Amino acid sequence: MLPGLGAVATTTIAGVLLARRGLGTLFGSVTQLDTIRLGKRTDNRTPPIRAFLPLASLDDLVFGGWDIFPEDAHEAALHAKVLEHQHLDPIRDELARVRPMRGVFYPEYVKRLVGTHVKSGPSKAAMVEQLREDVRSFVRDNGCARAVGVWCGSTEVHSSPSAVHASIGAFEEGLAKSDPHISNAQMYAWAFLKERVPFVNGAPHLGVDFPAAELLARETGVAIAGKDFKTGQTLLKTVIAPGLKARMLGVRGWFSTNILGNRDGEVLDDPGSFRSKEISKKGALDYIFKPQEHQDLYGDLFHKVRIEYYPPRGDAKEGWDNIDLFGWLGYPMQLKINFLCRDSILAAPVVLDLALLMDVAQRAGFSGTQEWLSFYFKSPMTAPGLYPEHDLFIQLMKMKNTMRWMMGQELITHLGNEYYD
Ligand SMILES: NC(=O)c1ccc[n+]([C@@H]2O[C@H](COP(=O)([O-])OP(=O)(O)OC[C@H]3O[C@@H](n4cnc5c(N)ncnc54)[C@H](O)[C@@H]3O)[C@@H](O)[C@H]2O)c1
Repeated sequence: MLPGLGAVATTTIAGVLLARRGLGTLFGSVTQLDTIRLGKRTDNRTPPIRAFLPLASLDDLVFGGWDIFPEDAHEAALHAKVLEHQHLDPIRDELARVRPMRGVFYPEYVKRLVGTHVKSGPSKAAMVEQLREDVRSFVRDNGCARAVGVWCGSTEVHSSPSAVHASIGAFEEGLAKSDPHISNAQMYAWAFLKERVPFVNGAPHLGVDFPAAELLARETGVAIAGKDFKTGQTLLKTVIAPGLKARMLGVRGWFSTNILGNRDGEVLDDPGSFRSKEISKKGALDYIFKPQEHQDLYGDLFHKVRIEYYPPRGDAKEGWDNIDLFGWLGYPMQLKINFLCRDSILAAPVVLDLALLMDVAQRAGFSGTQEWLSFYFKSPMTAPGLYPEHDLFIQLMKMKNTMRWMMGQELITHLGNEYYD
């Protein structure tokens, strides 16, 4: 179930519907395409992940969601201009049947949108009750065994946890009093948790990463994860930076800029929403380079991130990175990356993988923050006091080892001395 039926959500749904008919391959999806090595390198046991884990099959998925505009998923996909007619036409009717439920929308959290398809109610607590009823009726009417929620809605303005987020009691009281610190996304998160539905926050705002949500998730045995899908520029950053660091090459400056022209770009043009994204995008380098341990290499790093709303490009985002690095004796070098990517094409496999893996995690009895899914996030949620792991390859190792552990298989340490004994 997807709060926010925009570019990312409709591209995800369309991809699954096409793949089910044999009309497309879900490139980018680890659950659909990757394998997992079991045992020794000489054992030759590398089943596909989708055969190894008891994942829900694509044929069994049913999609639903909410939006603050009434367009069905087909109309929204046309509006988003990510997929072409050759992909939308064969699934037109099926997509059009995905009609958004009315969204919960207090406009102060997303300043650039004026919603027309919204719920009304006397309090935020009443809004949560309506969302809970939506979840229950969707599951019932579609004969679903289980559900997963993935936030694909707009990025909300930046905020930090406050007193109302500190405990379950404080949050529920805040809902009853319509506390202004409780945002739209947090109301969805609370509704999912109350319905024992795992929930993922795909945006950079404060959605489910606050103490009350973690406490409720633990209490109700629900898996939560976030935040901010790791897709274009940050994906590459978490590939390149660990490589430079591994070889002890220094970095003095990293300038990242983007142009994008979709609705997400329009929302991020608001300084409050941009601030959420900026914080999320900037964190990775500090955690990878660890300047406190390597002052001479990374202590003076100047890191700047810009996003410019530029309508002509639509969803076809272009990102530039300029990296000023240095090597032996301090001699300077430069690295330029120009990524002509497609935002939603990179995000859709992340949404699918997270939905399937969160469902399997919850069935395996995992609850609270699912740090093993950091692989998919720009700002991975962690236990309090723990720094997030951003290096994509450590994240991948952690994720695959968690899969092995979940299925009672031996973990792989890559020590490998047994081959030489
Ligand atoms: N595409 C990527 O590469 C990527 C990467 C990381 C994060 N994200 C995040 O994913 C989210 C979706 O991106 P997108 O490109 O699909 O944006 P989009 O603007 O196309 O879609 C977002 C949808 O959410 C709806 N919405 C806003 N507030 C809502 C509410 N309270 N309830 C229900 N619906 C609501 C909007 O009307 C819109 O249709 C954004 O927050 C974005 O920052 C995207």
